[in-house]
Amino acid sequence: MMAAAAERPFFFFLLALLLLVFHGARSVVAGAAAEQGKTYSVMDFHAAGDGNTDDAKAFAATWNAVCGDGARPTMVVPGGRTFLLSKISFNGPCRSPITVQLDGDIVAPNAIWTTTAANLLTFYRVDNLTVDGSGQIDGRGSIFWTCFNQKRCSVRPVLLAFVICNNLSVRSIHLKDSPDKHMTLLGCSQVHVYNVSFTAPGDSPNTDGINMARSDHVYISSCVIQTGDDCISILSNTTDVNITDITCGPGHGISVGSLGGDGSPALVERITVSNCSFFRTLTGVRIKSWQGGSGKAEGFLFENLNMTEVQYPIDIDQFYCPPGNCPQKDGAVAISDARFINIQGTSSDPEAIKIQCSKSVQCRGIFLDNVNLSCSRNRALTRAIISNAYGTIVGKVNPRVRFSGS
Ligand SMILES: *[C@@H]1O[C@H](CO)[C@@H](O)[C@H](O)[C@H]1NC(C)=O
Ligand SMILES: *[C@@H]1O[C@H](CO)[C@@H](O)[C@H](O)[C@H]1NC(C)=O
Ligand SMILES: *[C@@H]1O[C@H](CO)[C@@H](O)[C@H](O)[C@H]1NC(C)=O
Ligand SMILES: *[C@@H]1O[C@H](CO)[C@@H](O)[C@H](O)[C@H]1NC(C)=O
Ligand SMILES: *[C@@H]1O[C@H](CO)[C@@H](O)[C@H](O)[C@H]1NC(C)=O
Ligand SMILES: *[C@@H]1O[C@H](CO)[C@@H](O)[C@H](O)[C@H]1NC(C)=O
Ligand SMILES: *[C@@H]1O[C@H](CO)[C@@H](O)[C@H](O)[C@H]1NC(C)=O
Ligand SMILES: *[C@@H]1O[C@H](CO)[C@@H](O)[C@H](O)[C@H]1NC(C)=O
Repeated sequence: MMAAAAERPFFFFLLALLLLVFHGARSVVAGAAAEQGKTYSVMDFHAAGDGNTDDAKAFAATWNAVCGDGARPTMVVPGGRTFLLSKISFNGPCRSPITVQLDGDIVAPNAIWTTTAANLLTFYRVDNLTVDGSGQIDGRGSIFWTCFNQKRCSVRPVLLAFVICNNLSVRSIHLKDSPDKHMTLLGCSQVHVYNVSFTAPGDSPNTDGINMARSDHVYISSCVIQTGDDCISILSNTTDVNITDITCGPGHGISVGSLGGDGSPALVERITVSNCSFFRTLTGVRIKSWQGGSGKAEGFLFENLNMTEVQYPIDIDQFYCPPGNCPQKDGAVAISDARFINIQGTSSDPEAIKIQCSKSVQCRGIFLDNVNLSCSRNRALTRAIISNAYGTIVGKVNPRVRFSGS
C-alpha cells in the first residue's frame, strides 16, 4: 500500500512523465526516432537492489513483461542501487524494440558460481535492443582468475553475451573485472557499441574487452578498454567491422583471430581500425592464424594509430600458437589486402613490425604508408621481421621493410 502522503508527489511525477513523453513525441518530428513506450522498473518487480539479495528472479519477471509489450517499452535498472545477479538469460524474440536503461550497478556473486561454460547476462535472440546508461556490471572475477591460475577452473563465465541479434546498440555502460571475456557478440548483425568502458587488471587472464564471432556490420567507437587480454578480438566469420576512437591498454591490442584453429574454413573481411591509441599493450593491431587453417582474411585498413610503448605494434602471424604443443602443419588462412597507414609512436621491443607468413600460403597485398615506430628502450633501433609477404611501401616507413622478392 502506498502511503497517502506519497501520492501527491507521485501524481506530479506522473504529470512530469506525461510532459516528458509529450516533449519526446514532439522531438520525434525532428529526430525521426520513434516514441518510447511504458517503463518497467525492476523495483516494481520486487528487486531488492541491496547488493546481497539475488535479484535474478525480479529481473526475469521484469524482462517477461517488457518482452511481451509491443509498444517500445523500457526496462529500468535504477541508479543509486546495486543488484546482485546470478546467471540470467533475457530471451527473445520480443514484440517490439526494447531499451534497457541500466543506471544502477550489477554485481556477480562473489564465488565460483559456475563450473561449466556460462554467461552472467545473456541476451538471446533479442532484436532492436538498446542497452544504455551509466551503470556498471562488475563480474568480481578475481576469485575465478586465482582459480584459473591454479589450474582448478578450466572454464570461466563471460560477463555480458549477445547471442543471435539484429540491430543492437550498447552505450555508456561500464564493464568491470569479468571472470573471462567482458562482452561477446555471437551471430549478431548491425551492432553499435559506443562510449562503453572496460576495466580489469592487466594481468587478469583472458579478460578480453569485446570478442565477436559470426557477426557482421559491427561499429565500435569511443570506448576505453583496459583489460588483461585483447581489447577487441574479431573471430571467424565476421565481416564489415569498423572500430574507431578506442583507447586500448593495458591489454593485448586489437586482434583478428586466432583464425583457423578449429579446422573449419575461416572468413574475415572488411575490417577497419582507425583513430585509436594503444598504451603498453602486447600488440597494437594484429592478425593471427594457426598453422594448418584454411579460408581467408582480407580487406583490412589500420589507419591513424598511436602507439605508446607497445611491444609489437604491427603483427601478422600465420604461425600463431600459445606456448605448448605446436606441430608443424601445411596450409594457412590466406591473408591479403591489409593496409597500414599513418601509424606512429613507440614500441617496447625492437621488433616493431612483424609480418610472418607461411611458405605454402603467403601474405599478399600488404600496404604500408607513413609508419614511424621507434623503440622506447635503450635507444635501440627498431626492425621489421618479414617472411613470405608481398606488398607495397609508400611514404616513409620506419623501421625499414623489405617484402619478399624485393
Ligand atoms: C526490428 O526492426 C526491424 C526493422 O525495423 C523490424 O522488421 C522488426 O520487426 C523489428 N523487430 C522487433 C522485435 O522489434
Ligand atoms: C533499430 O532499432 C531501433 C530501436 O532500438 C529502431 O528504432 C530502428 O528502426 C531499428 N533499425 C533497423 C534498421 O532495424
Ligand atoms: C559516456 O559515458 C559516460 C559514463 O556512463 C557518461 O557519463 C557520458 O555522458 C557518456 N557520454 C556520451 C556522449 O554519451
Ligand atoms: C566502415 O569502414 C569502411 C572502410 O573504411 C568505410 O568505407 C565505411 O564507410 C565505414 N562504415 C561506417 C558505417 O562507418
Ligand atoms: C564459417 O562459415 C563457413 C561457411 O558457412 C562454415 O563452413 C564454417 O564452419 C564457419 N566457421 C566458423 C568458425 O564459424
Ligand atoms: C579519424 O580522425 C580523422 C582526423 O581527426 C578524421 O578526419 C576522421 O573522420 C576520423 N575517422 C573516423 C572513422 O572517425
Ligand atoms: C600519441 O600519444 C601520445 C601520448 O598520449 C601523445 O603525446 C601524442 O601526441 C600522440 N600522437 C599522435 C600523433 O596522436
Ligand atoms: C619518427 O619518430 C621519432 C620519435 O618519435 C621522431 O624523432 C622522428 O622525427 C620521426 N620521423 C619521421 C620521419 O617522422
